[in-house]
Amino acid sequence: MGMEQTLIILKPDAIQRGLMGKIITRFEDKGLKVIGAKFMQISEELAATHYSDHKERPFYAGLVSFMTSSPVLVLALEGVGAIAICRSMMGATFGSQAVAGTIRGDFGVSNSFNLIHGSDSPEAATKELGLFFNDGEIISWNRANEGWVYDLSGDEPE
Ligand code: RTP
Ligand code: MG
Repeated sequence: MGMEQTLIILKPDAIQRGLMGKIITRFEDKGLKVIGAKFMQISEELAATHYSDHKERPFYAGLVSFMTSSPVLVLALEGVGAIAICRSMMGATFGSQAVAGTIRGDFGVSNSFNLIHGSDSPEAATKELGLFFNDGEIISWNRANEGWVYDLSGDEPE
């Protein structure tokens, strides 16, 4: 597991409840690097493409309606093992079940309005980053304290 990039969406409920800063702070505090950020309104078409795997599920129509109801903040985050780290920081899908200490566990109780999306595999991350970010919108930049976030003395960041 090396350096990974993942797509995070702060969903409409997170924006409406004023939780953007608190949630971004958690990822920054952890040591993940923001390499892309976009405040946007998701179109019906984009929501349908993003959630195409769920098309036949009973919650699909409500999910698309929720995700297109109000703006979202889309983030691209980078770090060693970033995909699994973000999923564990997000917590279980349903707010009622997510454990304390996770984003869903600490900030929500709803099963439908669950605040955040995160890519669940390297394949999904590649696909989703391409769906939400255009060429040039993901920026590789040198972080001033990188050598204190990771041990850079070997071949790979540890
Ligand atoms: P996400 O894709 O948003 O990161 O969440 P997830 O992997 O934890 O959950 P997933 O199974 O991919 O479901 C996508 C989103 O659909 C809504 N959902 N509702 N009512 C239900 O049974 C139900 N199941 C899923 C949630 O908004 C979930 O995040
Ligand atoms: Mg999912």
